[in-house]
Amino acid sequence: MDYRTEITRKLSRVSELDESLVYSLIEVPPQKEMGDYAFPCYTLSKSLRKSPNAIAAEIAGDDRLKEPWIDTIAANGPYVNFFIDRGHFSHAVLSDILYKGSHFGDSDEGGGRTVIVEYSSPNIAKPFHVGHAFTTALGHSLSRIYEKLGYHVVRMNHLGDYGTQFGKLITAFRLWGDESALLASPINELLRIYVRFHEEEKSDPALSDLARENFRRLEEGAKEEKMLWEKFRELSLKEFSAVYEKLGVSFDNYNGESFYGDRIPEVLNMLNQKNLLTESDGARVVMLDEYNLPPCIIVKSDGTTIYASRDIAAAMYRYETYHFHKNIYVVGLPQSLHFRQVFAVLDKAGRDYAKDCIHVGFGLVKFKNMKFSTREGNIVVLDDLLNESIAKTREIIQSNAIIRDADMDEQRINEIAQKVGISSVIYTYLRAGRERDIVFSWEEMLDFEGDSAPYLIYTYARTRSILRKAVERDISPERIANADLSLLVSDEENAVIKLISEIPDAVSKAAGANEPFMVARLVAQIARAFNRFYNNNNILSGTDLARRDARLALCEANCIAIKLCTELLGIEVVERM
Ligand code: ARG
Repeated sequence: MDYRTEITRKLSRVSELDESLVYSLIEVPPQKEMGDYAFPCYTLSKSLRKSPNAIAAEIAGDDRLKEPWIDTIAANGPYVNFFIDRGHFSHAVLSDILYKGSHFGDSDEGGGRTVIVEYSSPNIAKPFHVGHAFTTALGHSLSRIYEKLGYHVVRMNHLGDYGTQFGKLITAFRLWGDESALLASPINELLRIYVRFHEEEKSDPALSDLARENFRRLEEGAKEEKMLWEKFRELSLKEFSAVYEKLGVSFDNYNGESFYGDRIPEVLNMLNQKNLLTESDGARVVMLDEYNLPPCIIVKSDGTTIYASRDIAAAMYRYETYHFHKNIYVVGLPQSLHFRQVFAVLDKAGRDYAKDCIHVGFGLVKFKNMKFSTREGNIVVLDDLLNESIAKTREIIQSNAIIRDADMDEQRINEIAQKVGISSVIYTYLRAGRERDIVFSWEEMLDFEGDSAPYLIYTYARTRSILRKAVERDISPERIANADLSLLVSDEENAVIKLISEIPDAVSKAAGANEPFMVARLVAQIARAFNRFYNNNNILSGTDLARRDARLALCEANCIAIKLCTELLGIEVVERM
């Protein structure tokens, strides 16, 4: 039951105000002393020419508002405060989540409309670094959030697989490439020769000409150059796939920049038709003064195309192919000017869907007291971060008998360390607003008591263990399913249930703002509230049977809530620890 809607209906009858207006006026007070819902009477005060306080008092006393599920209606200054009956509330929320399970919070808001989520998009022949992991974690989570809301999601990986650097790689590989090293560790080998190319190029300018020539040949589709490029791409992709598998991430397609490179003629055609191309120092550009943006270069003076032209082609292709409702780019904030230009060009060309293209930016990745062997360009490779996190998690579990089951064997410890270690990294990316820089620190991310993935996973596993104990004591699932949920009225129980009831709204808001942290924050609050309840109350014994059963049902609901929220974040829980 949706209390807000019900209260709206009644208030609208009593006040003779429009339902949608009443609904929008109703507030959720910040303090529980002010009830669960509050209705401010200022709007009515104008039309009725009475003080809002007097109106509030009148409404609060109106018998037509009385309902068994409303505990109290009280006037508080200009507000009418509604206190929902806790027992009724507990029953309504918990029976809903227990019945729906992981589908709790599903909606058809999306109505099957298509949302494209472009994320990850690493550059081939380059290491997969911690910035690409940020977009990967965000995009993966957003995809799941949109799906939960009934959108049809297309997951796209816009691989950086095109550009003049491939002329350099082809040249370098022919000169210094080691075939077996390439097969054994493709990205390392490609990076090695790429770095060497840049060093030797300084004293040997002929190399640069050769690279340009090879890129030109590649663009023309010359067979040998194309074969080498394809090999680099395929081997890089294989390495990326291993990362994706670890993270549990997948894509519907890997249409990279090269895929759209072939579609540049269409872009030029369109811009020509609209008369938007201007000559500037030999380059062809679209002027964007009216958007307060610098001109967007479409074709460089040497006739080659650039990153932006390929993105314009990509947006056009995506619209033609998917008629998207939203086209989301999960890419770091430093590229925001680039996207503003791309979207402005589309807008200037009269493409309506420009307004549905959204750059979902994110901050920088930093490290506190962490040392990694950084490779070329001071980047931290994701694999190093993951491996270290897994190793450290294993140490913690091994040395802490409180956290783990006494009979846990080596293999189980490894499995759990793997899951928890990876989840810790993912959670760190998602736990705060995406535009803020994130700081990795082992103390925080692996703190089993803190705002961390281990805390959530541990809470889940421990709750599961209570439920296993219930089974051992012959308390049947049917008993729990039929428990009298309206017995759960204490402050601590109510706090958990209230937070659980906020899941649907949080998911919808997370999609609205493209902010997975809204789900992360809520699940962290649920776990914290549940632990407060768990630490201060008897569950399996020391209480009467009816209460015991109801509390076990709350345990079950807690598990469903944590599992479904962490799944939306791309984090996997474990059944026992
Ligand atoms: N490959 C680029 C990079 O690593 C990101 C691509 C972003 N997507 C796009 N459509 N431009 O920086």
